[in-house]
Parts: sequence; structure tokens; C-alpha cells
Amino acid sequence: MSKTIPYNRSLKKITPYEPGKSQNKKRSKLPLIKLSSNEACLSFSSITIKKIKKINLKLSNYPDSQANILRDKISKLYKIGKNNIIFGNGSDEIFFMICNAFLSKGLEGLYSKYGFLIYPLAINAAGAKAVFANEKTYRANVANLISKTNKNTRVCFIANPNNPTGTYLTKTEIRKLREQLPSSCLLVIDSAYSEYVTQTDYSDSISYAKKRKDIIVTHTFSKIFGLSSLRLGWAYCPESITKVLEKIRPAFNLNAYAQKIGNLVLDDKDFLKKSIKHNSYWINWLSQEFSKLGVKVIPSVANFVTIVFNNSKSASIFAECLEKKNVFVRMLNAYKMPNCIRITVGNELQNKTLIKFSKKILQEIK
Ligand SMILES: Cc1ncc(COP(=O)(O)O)c(C=O)c1O
Repeated sequence: MSKTIPYNRSLKKITPYEPGKSQNKKRSKLPLIKLSSNEACLSFSSITIKKIKKINLKLSNYPDSQANILRDKISKLYKIGKNNIIFGNGSDEIFFMICNAFLSKGLEGLYSKYGFLIYPLAINAAGAKAVFANEKTYRANVANLISKTNKNTRVCFIANPNNPTGTYLTKTEIRKLREQLPSSCLLVIDSAYSEYVTQTDYSDSISYAKKRKDIIVTHTFSKIFGLSSLRLGWAYCPESITKVLEKIRPAFNLNAYAQKIGNLVLDDKDFLKKSIKHNSYWINWLSQEFSKLGVKVIPSVANFVTIVFNNSKSASIFAECLEKKNVFVRMLNAYKMPNCIRITVGNELQNKTLIKFSKKILQEIK
């Protein structure tokens, strides 16, 4: 018998990330409505679809390791230098790169209690201690975050807006957070859902980050740009930080399709406008409909809404009943929010079907 090889001890604390459910084990005759992973619900303009179909790649060649065409496009659109951009196989990969580059045993990574689950995972994987700060009414709280810092705090992650709560910090709060964090602590602002936000006191913080050397702002093509399957993320970093992260970025982490299609989708301004308009309307509609049904709703500015039940049993019965109707929503046990359910904004038919089923289920639960 061969021996089990001992592995990195810091991984012992880690439970693998569990993605939102996407399939019913039992075949259902009802159409599948997947509202569990905050994916985009609209499709690109017909012009973009045609262009995508015409892409012809030499599959035996490696992709451009610098993703130069896409880099140029992002640099112009976001008014940032080409050397300020780092790419990731999804923004998740960038979080791991950041932790591997800036954290190690003895150091600490900070996040907000209901912050995105990948942060503690990436912090622990780097051998550092994951420290969280309590929230107030499902919102990150600057004073609480600051109270958890010390000389070993080297990275602070904040998703703005946050998943799974959908709440956000204002520009002023982000500045306050940055100014009060220790100067040796890097602030990572995860703007995965920023394009959906229409509030005037909000910013993805790139313009602020450009004035400093201690902020990274991450973006993704997985949400409003509708390219979750291609795994395409990027970050604005001060040049000094891009240089560090480039040391550990896997050389060909962006496949050639992701580079080409990402570039095309950035040109599809109508798609972007339509998606923002659709989301603003339906996020309000869903929030109001759930409120009318007597369910507490966390005010969200992203493409999902999180509803709060009085207890975890009601939340899980609600999700299970929806699943029987082939509607998938996200239970939040892994976030230690077992009485909450997160639901992605779908298309009109999906949203209306969801509310129709929810009405019945909630009446039965009562
Ligand atoms: C806040 C937040 N950041 C990042 C991501 C991951 O994005 P990507 O698909 O680019 O890895 C998600 C995905 O759900 C998210 O909710």
C-alpha cells in the first residue's frame, strides 16, 4: 500500500466553494429557471452574435499571453494605462494571485462578515489568517472593519456591491475605509456587479484608485457582460502591483475565445444599456413583490435580491419547493445566512413565474 502524501496544512480549514445549483436530478417537464448564480439574463445584440459566430481561431496556437487587443480596449474604455491591467481566468483567479503575492503565515486578510466566500478561501489558501468584521443590517461597516486591523493586516477585500447581500458602500465610505486602513494594507475593491449600479453616490473606485498606490479594483465579464462560461476577469492595479502579480499569473490564463469575445462584447453598448435598464426595473419589481408577500428584502443594487425568512427551516422549504418547480435559487448556508435566499434577476417570464410560484409556496408555508 502506498502512503497518502501530506498536503499543505493551511488547506485543512478550507471547504471547497459550492456553486449555485443548476440541475434537477429528477427530470422535470417544467422549463428550467436558473436564478442561483447571478448570471446575465439577456443576450447580446444580433450584430455581436453574428460576429461571435464568425470567429475563426487556430486552435493549435497558444493564446496571446498579454491579451493585447483586449488590453488596449479596456485601457481606452476605462482610461487606464495598459500596464495597470492584470487579467485573470475569472476575477476569482486574481483574488488568489493577490493572496499568494501579499499574504503568508503570520499575516492577515480582512473581509466583511457576509462578504464573497472566495475571499476567506483565498486568504486561507495563502497560509494567512482570515479575519472578518461584523456588518450592520447586511452592510459592510467601515468602523467594524478598521477595528479588526493590526500591523499584520496586509489585504482587505470588499465587494462593492457585495454578493450575497447586494448592498454597497458609498464613494465617501470607500475613501474613509482606505484612509483609515493601515498604510501597509492593500485594499481590494471587487466591482463584479458595478455596471448594474445606478446610484449617484456609488463608483467602482477606479478614479480614486488612480490617485493611490494601495488599491486594486477588480472587474469581471461574468455578470453584466454575460460571459461567465469563458472565465474572464481583470483588475486595475498600480503599476508596482501589476509587476508583482505578473510574476505568478499563469502565462496563458485567458483562452483565445475569451479574449476575442470579451473584446466584441465591450463594443455592444446597446446590450449594456438594455441590461442596466432591465435590471433596474426588475430588481425593484422583485423587491416590491416579495415585500407584498410579507418577506423581508435586503435592498440590493446588483442583479440579485436576497430575501430574509424568520428561520432557516422556512428558507430551506421555500428553496426546495421552488426546486420542485424547476426554479433554482441560492441557499446561503455557506455564508452563515441559513435564513436567507438569494435570487438572481431573470427575464420577464422567469421573474413572473418565480413570483407566481413563490406566492403559492409562501401561502402553504404559513
Ligand atoms: C462579488 C463577486 N466577485 C467575483 C465573482 C467571480 O467572478 P468571476 O466569474 O470573474 O470569477 C463573483 C461571482 O459570483 C462575485 O459574486
